[in-house]
Amino acid sequence: MDTNIIYCGDNLEILPKYIPDESIDLIYIDPPFNTSRQYEVFWGEAQERRAFEDRFGDVMTYLDWMRPRLRELHRILKSTGSFYYHCDWHATHYIKVELDRLFGFDNFQNEIIWRRTTSHGDSKQGARHYGRIHDTLLFYTKSAEYTWNTQFVEFSASQIKQQYNKQEKDGRRYRLVTPTAKKPGGDTSYEWKGVRPPKGRFWAYTREKMAEMDSKGLLYYSKTGQPYIKYYLDERPGVAAQSLWTDVSPMSPTAKERLGYPTQKPLTLLERIVNASSNEGQVVMDAFCGCGTTLEAAAKLKRKWIGIDFSPTACRVMAERLEKRLGLKEGIDFTLKDMPKTVDQLHRMPPFEFQNWAVVALGGIPNKVKVGDYGIDGRLYLADMAKEEKTVKRISEKVAQGMFETLDKWYPIQVKQVDKVGRPDIDKFETAMRRDKRLKGYFVAFGFSGDATKEIQRAQKVEGLEITPITVEELLGYEKTALD
Ligand SMILES: C[S@@+](CC[C@H](N)C(=O)[O-])C[C@H]1O[C@@H](n2cnc3c(N)ncnc32)[C@H](O)[C@@H]1O
Repeated sequence: MDTNIIYCGDNLEILPKYIPDESIDLIYIDPPFNTSRQYEVFWGEAQERRAFEDRFGDVMTYLDWMRPRLRELHRILKSTGSFYYHCDWHATHYIKVELDRLFGFDNFQNEIIWRRTTSHGDSKQGARHYGRIHDTLLFYTKSAEYTWNTQFVEFSASQIKQQYNKQEKDGRRYRLVTPTAKKPGGDTSYEWKGVRPPKGRFWAYTREKMAEMDSKGLLYYSKTGQPYIKYYLDERPGVAAQSLWTDVSPMSPTAKERLGYPTQKPLTLLERIVNASSNEGQVVMDAFCGCGTTLEAAAKLKRKWIGIDFSPTACRVMAERLEKRLGLKEGIDFTLKDMPKTVDQLHRMPPFEFQNWAVVALGGIPNKVKVGDYGIDGRLYLADMAKEEKTVKRISEKVAQGMFETLDKWYPIQVKQVDKVGRPDIDKFETAMRRDKRLKGYFVAFGFSGDATKEIQRAQKVEGLEITPITVEELLGYEKTALD
């Protein structure tokens, strides 16, 4: 089985095709809620919610869509493997029932509540319910034998104050723990500095061990002479993580890791999961991997990884992320597989994805918000336009951070997933160009009618509007060269 690989495709097709039974150690998924037009959710959580309310309607449709995928994921999970399903109030309870059936109720380990924000639009004035501020992660294992590494979180200020309430002269904090236990073992009722263990209890340590601790100053004596062991705060790993996660902050709008992908999860969340439920060298999979948070966490923590996403745009974002943040090179350190390459595949691609593909293939940046069918689909910033900026990549970062409007030198790109662009399509693009005061633009489609070509020539001659028509075949050629 290949690892360190991103598959571009529907996981329901990719999993049976490439992934053998019982081959994955850890699976994390964070699927979208609507079933049919996932590409719409790529850029906006608001859209995702609306899509859910509009089309989901019957929750059973969602489960019917999800069920065969879950079966596949269960098939490929090792018997010692773990599975995390990230969701929220929309679907948690239905999914829990589904997963209990699949994994067995006894293999349910946790319902993790992640507080992903402290306040939310939902809790604003006038809302007639409590703020919905958490996500739920359902954690299952395939059997009772599974990889587990306890994770620790920092003590809270109140825990420190209450539990580590004693201090050495130098300020070192500690708590007191009795050196006695319930069960006897050997000579454990001896007298220690005139004191014996309380009734029904025994020393937990041998006389020699007690003497050793005492010589190191690790014993504390109460007024009555009872010894206690000092547990220093700075020697504790923290508190074992519980099922309520309030210490993983949501990403701030200016976080370095933010890629402008609305459903992106924080890296620290995935690091905790990868650390807890896998070991170095094991295989981690995310079958709905979006912009690749799981993949970054897995690669960083020296696990092997497999990502699947059916959006070519998401796959590109991931490849760039791994390169930019971890210095991994596509083709050397990892593989990007099954990206659409033929005209036929592009014909069948969902329209939104097709637009993204075309704009990116042309070297442009897709518009985040689509304004009607005849809005401009993307912008092309040519290298010489970016003198103030070092590289075009820097511009993409700015776009992701919402600083789009600060850069005014760009050419519009219009994309139509049709065999023949007609004259009216060109007219509309011209109107958009005039509105945005652009003299040059690009139009991508499978072909152009004679009338469309004539209009392009007229607009250039009479109005000085320069529209470059580009066919998908040509673009595939460009793409190939760029990838070669
Ligand atoms: C909520 S996002 C995941 C975000 C991710 N956890 C992150 O941190 O970036 C869900 C992703 O699932 C992808 N997706 C939806 N249906 C899919 C399918 N059937 N096969 C593969 N990927 C799919 C979408 O394209 C989207 O990128």
